[in-house]
Order: sequence, then structure tokens, then C-alpha cells
Amino acid sequence: MKNSQNILSEVIAIIGGTGAEGSGFAMRWAQAGLDVVIGSRSSQKGERVAAELREKLGDVKLRGTSNLEAARMADLVVLSVPYESQEFIIASIKPALAGKVLVTVVAPLLGEKKGRYTPPPGGSAALEAQAQVGPETRVVAAFQNVSAHHLADPQHKIDCDVLVCGAKRADREKAIALAQAAGMRGVHAGALQNSAVVEGMTAVLISINAIYKTRNAGIRITGIDV
Ligand SMILES: NC(=O)c1ccc[n+]([C@@H]2O[C@H](COP(=O)([O-])OP(=O)(O)OC[C@H]3O[C@@H](n4cnc5c(N)ncnc54)[C@H](OP(=O)(O)O)[C@@H]3O)[C@@H](O)[C@H]2O)c1
Repeated sequence: MKNSQNILSEVIAIIGGTGAEGSGFAMRWAQAGLDVVIGSRSSQKGERVAAELREKLGDVKLRGTSNLEAARMADLVVLSVPYESQEFIIASIKPALAGKVLVTVVAPLLGEKKGRYTPPPGGSAALEAQAQVGPETRVVAAFQNVSAHHLADPQHKIDCDVLVCGAKRADREKAIALAQAAGMRGVHAGALQNSAVVEGMTAVLISINAIYKTRNAGIRITGIDV
């Protein structure tokens, strides 16, 4: 578990960590011993959601505050807000992002039918995020295919891989360590451009869930020995 050793000493901020997806990660990462800060547009809401999760989990390192303060406190920032608000939220935390890795979980599901994929204008939400944060922050895309339904119950074992896209291997390793901490296998999936495919896969999984009447569809990579 070499990767986990690296992030155990880092503060992880989850921007939009009050939501379904972000609070699920907050629970799992805090349970794994990580130091987690939940960010919200409202510091009171961030504090309240963190207190509720602490109540559930017991003795964990989990705090809540505003998105900007959370990003300031963090070594590693995770973006977990709806695609529609991504640009606005990134602008609001940008002063705190320089020199840091931003792991985005954003899966853009545009239009009425969430199971029919339409790429965003910039190619992918993650590529747009990289353009929005500028060159001083390195964006990594991960977790787009992990449903909040899986994350919600901290005892539930998640049966899927996490594809991780980003320019630098060392940055992808951080997201892979986060995947491990949440009980999943992270897989290097190449350059940030590839996030377009991974984000699109979310729509594919939504379609599969609808067709097979389940909430559990996920992806697994075969043929690699890790
Ligand atoms: N849900 C899933 O199963 C799932 C699976 C894979 C990927 N994702 C991706 O993960 C991200 C978060 O998903 P989610 O289901 O957690 O979303 P969500 O619950 O709708 O939103 C997450 C948080 O973002 C903030 N937010 C909501 N609407 C906003 C707005 N209009 N402007 C600014 N901030 C807003 C809220 O936090 P505050 O009110 O505290 O600011 C909210 O708690 C999305 O990009 C989604 O595509 C989700």
C-alpha cells in the first residue's frame, strides 16, 4: 500500500463534499484514517455535514468549512460539484489551488436523458477544469464511474475499478491512493484527454442500470496484474 502511505499525511479537501458523492468519499476516506475537510458554499452547512458524519463514524479526522477555506487547508483538493457549477466553483477556490493537484469526479450529464452521452464543449469536464484552473494546478480525473449509491453505506464493499486520467504519473498515483483508501483498485488510464471516454462511460453505466433494473453496474479492467 505504498500509495496510501503518501496521502495519509495529507489534508484532503472535498469541494461540494456535502453532496451525495462527496459525502460518501468523505466517510470512506475518514474511515481509512485520512484527514478530510468537507467544503461547501456555506461554511455552516459544511460544519453541519461533517458533524453528522463524525456522529456516524466516531473518532475520525473530519471537519467542514467553506469551499475556499477547505481548499486553502488542503494538500490535495477533490472537486465534487455538479458540472453546471464547475466553472463558478473553480473560480471561487482558484486562489487556493496553485501548486496543488485537483482530482475531479465531475461527470457531465448534459440534456434530459442522462443515459445518452453528449460531450461538453471543451472535450471533457476535466479538460475544461484544467483550462479553468490554469497551468499552476494539475487536474486528475477519477471516480466518474463510482455511484454515490455504492459509497453511501461505509460497510458495503465496492465491486469496481477506478480509471484515473492525468498528465503526470505521480499525480495519478495520488488518486489511485484515494481509490485504495475507499476500498477500490485505481488503474492508470493515461492522459487527461482520456477523461472524455471515462466521463462518457458514466452515461453508459446509467443506461445499463436502467436496462437491467439495478443500481450496481460498474467497470473492471482485466488483463493487468496489480
Ligand atoms: N451522484 C453520483 O452517483 C455520481 C457518480 C459519479 C460522479 N458524480 C459526479 O460527482 C459530482 C457531485 O455529484 P453529487 O451527486 O454529489 O451532486 P450534488 O449532490 O447535486 O452536489 C454536490 C454539492 O455541490 C454543491 N452544489 C449543488 N448545486 C450547486 C450549484 N448549482 N452551484 C454550486 N454548488 C452546487 C452542493 O454543496 P453546497 O450546497 O454545500 O455548496 C452539493 O451538496 C457531480 O459532478 C457528478 O457528476 C456523481
